[in-house]
Amino acid sequence: MIDVATFYRSLPVLETQRLLFRPLTLDDLPCVYAYASDPEVTRYLRWPAHPSLYHTERFLRQSLDLAARGMDASWGIAIRKQDKLIGAAHLMDIIRSRRQAEVGVVLARRFWGQGYGTESLEAVLGCAFNQLGLERVQGVCCAQNIAGQASMARAGMIEDQACRQGVWQKGAIREMLVYTRTIDKRKADSQTPTPRPSIKKG
Ligand SMILES: CC(C)(COP(=O)(O)OP(=O)(O)OC[C@H]1O[C@@H](n2cnc3c(N)ncnc32)[C@H](O)[C@@H]1OP(=O)(O)O)[C@@H](O)C(=O)NCCC(=O)NCCS
Repeated sequence: MIDVATFYRSLPVLETQRLLFRPLTLDDLPCVYAYASDPEVTRYLRWPAHPSLYHTERFLRQSLDLAARGMDASWGIAIRKQDKLIGAAHLMDIIRSRRQAEVGVVLARRFWGQGYGTESLEAVLGCAFNQLGLERVQGVCCAQNIAGQASMARAGMIEDQACRQGVWQKGAIREMLVYTRTIDKRKADSQTPTPRPSIKKG
């Protein structure tokens, strides 16, 4: 399994059929502000809508600083060929000893309802399992966030009902659901070439 700090410092570029996942840069500021300042987008998220461009700039600078120090990083999600940023994806709380992490995806509102959320989750899960060597990835979602739950279910994540709990968030107790997906060992093993046994002659 690769070192987490190295992973965050040099986040791998991921590609799916329609999307490109690449590290965020300061040039992304207007696009990040566009979705991060939309209260509909942040409605069920832990963080409030950004009140100003300055707020987003400070957030982006902090994110880039954490990435440079190998402590955390997010992918900017762009539509392939256009390199137009439509949102961000995050693999956080990576615990190597438990082979687990948490995934999060956020998209600008006008890109909802086109399957990009599911495609993003699948890309991050693939990276977690195949490149990072993790075995379990979870996503935490507010019970009222129907789109969040649907996209995780579409990406093959299953709700762990035992993990439901009320959490104080944005001035109220919200019921939070935990969706998980574990690595499909059979698939992973079939992708890893089996070393040929050496046959002793004579
Ligand atoms: C949650 C979120 C990422 C979901 O993104 P999304 O792209 O809208 O979700 P999905 O990938 O599941 O796609 C939804 C729709 O696209 C459709 N779709 C799927 N694949 C498609 C494709 N290839 N082409 C066109 N449409 C497609 C689905 O049928 C679905 O339609 P439905 O809602 O009528 O059932 C998005 O709503 C969002 O950013 N919300 C704000 C932040 C947030 O809450 N994040 C999640 C925290 S848990």
